[in-house]
Amino acid sequence: MNIAANPQASLADQMKAHTGRFVDKTFDWKAFPSNVGFEELSRAQMRYIGAGGSPKVGDPSTLKADNFTLSLIYKEPGHYAACHSHEIEESFLIISGALIVGWEKHGEVVEVNLGPKDMILNAREIGHGFRVDGVEPVIMSISVDVGKPLPPVYHYHPKEHPAELARTFGAEPGNTMPFDRNGEHEIQKLMADYVVRNTELPTIWEDAGFTRKVYVGDAPGAVKHDSTRKEMWGLPMGAKLAPFTRTVEDAYLCLEGSIEVVWVAEDGTESSVELGPRDLIKTPAGQAHYLRNPGVGPATVWTVIGTSGDDGAVYKKG
Ligand SMILES: [Fe+2]
Repeated sequence: MNIAANPQASLADQMKAHTGRFVDKTFDWKAFPSNVGFEELSRAQMRYIGAGGSPKVGDPSTLKADNFTLSLIYKEPGHYAACHSHEIEESFLIISGALIVGWEKHGEVVEVNLGPKDMILNAREIGHGFRVDGVEPVIMSISVDVGKPLPPVYHYHPKEHPAELARTFGAEPGNTMPFDRNGEHEIQKLMADYVVRNTELPTIWEDAGFTRKVYVGDAPGAVKHDSTRKEMWGLPMGAKLAPFTRTVEDAYLCLEGSIEVVWVAEDGTESSVELGPRDLIKTPAGQAHYLRNPGVGPATVWTVIGTSGDDGAVYKKG
């Protein structure tokens, strides 16, 4: 039995077993067998929760997934991911760089350019690929729901299609359209419901003294989804929440600044870990916990919650 599943382990040990530190993890360049032999498809994956789209499900340094997976993907300029589809929904949150994401239907493609803190949720069964046309590499966080993780179905892989067609996700010259929220094309209309720009989302100031931008959930500007919620939280200097408990697991991936995550045992004793950029903690369902910003600068945190419904959490000032 590992510590994460052992109720006898101390709270501190259990927290440690649920924490993924950026510096303890490595990027895996061999996570995706379908890319082998195609340099232009190469990408690296750092797994925090579950295996994501990779078949590497037995990785002991990865936290067990309940309702969602979470990983980082690194991709260099000039490289792309071939157009494919799957039966699970998959979100891309851009952390740095600019990423072109294309959606394809019947040889027509709509491309959207996403910048830092923008997100797209790739709809179930839609053909999608991505490409880095910018001058800097892209790091993004990918989450998929764990419903029935089947291997992706490739639509335009360079193994079977000319390299130029694979690079444009299956669009012949003239068949690529830009993303347009008011566009008339059916792919433009569909994609409009799944692209979230950080700067277009309302900032919700909680009475508890922190901010939320709801990317996936039931809020204005958010993508509606049936399995998880995804939010960007901002904790100003000195912010501290009161303990709360969810009926499902959540994960906090620190993006900027630092946060302290505190777990509270039934007898009131506390244990905490401080997370810096790209560190993550997964808190299991039923574990009382809260967040605090111990630093002098603001902290930004990507928050994933394992249900689309009410999880029972109430945010109050601590
Ligand atoms: Fe995908």
